[in-house]
Amino acid sequence: MSFRHEVIEKNAILLLVLTLITVSIGGMVQIIPLFTIESTIERVEGERPYSPLEQMGRNIYTREGCYLCHSQQIRPFKDEVERYGHYSLAAESMYDHPFQWGSKRTGPDLARVGGRYSNDWHVAHLSSPRAVVPESVMPAYPFLAERPLRYEDVADHLKALRATGVPYTDDMIANAKADLEAQANPDADTNALLKRYPKAVVAKFNTGSTEITELDALIAYLQMLGTLVPISNIPADRLKQ
Ligand code: HEC
Repeated sequence: MSFRHEVIEKNAILLLVLTLITVSIGGMVQIIPLFTIESTIERVEGERPYSPLEQMGRNIYTREGCYLCHSQQIRPFKDEVERYGHYSLAAESMYDHPFQWGSKRTGPDLARVGGRYSNDWHVAHLSSPRAVVPESVMPAYPFLAERPLRYEDVADHLKALRATGVPYTDDMIANAKADLEAQANPDADTNALLKRYPKAVVAKFNTGSTEITELDALIAYLQMLGTLVPISNIPADRLKQ
């Protein structure tokens, strides 16, 4: 045995070839199983792609750089969970392109801000933060209430997201514009919208304007953050990460 090994050790080329073969076997053992599993993210009940209005609001959130002051990732530490709610699950940001986890918290984490405040509170706060939180250092965004939302191309946004792997169906893309308008109109027939996007919050968020404004879209997005997954229904052992 030791004699045969000597043959390998004395022949640099043979040693190199045999080393490469050994390393490749090790690599294959590690890599090939990963191709057979569908996803490394465990799916959870309730998670769905963003509704067209939420997605357009998310685009405004990204455009305005809200992530520079707000994270969207509650870490599994006692102080964070007590302050912000259940820690974030991987599946809750699986449809985020680009993700908005953020790395700085000048303001609070927003991963579960949905439903915490009324729509009117958000309108007042975004237009003038110090009107509702006197010590706030958050910038005011009064222009969002006046700027009409540009959404003629909303279907293209959904198509682009589908190309990155978000499961928008043909039906969702065909109805993108109608769904967006229905979500911002409490008098509209919203059955189809809510079937496609369960739990979408339907409201005329910015009551100061009859048009659909950028503020409407942004608040629709903020009001659904962290509300899709019914955390209390999920058995505790499935939540362990
Ligand atoms: C310069 C940093 C900064 C930026 C940029 C910023 N915020 Fe804030 N935000 C804060 C601070 C500080 C607070 C806490 C005080 C307050 O409520 O105003 C806050 C609070 C909030 C709250 C209330 C959160 C809670 O749980 O009480 C929301 C919602 C919010 N911001 C949304 C936004 C959105 C949307 C944007 C982008 C359009 C944005 N913020 C941009 C600093 C910022």
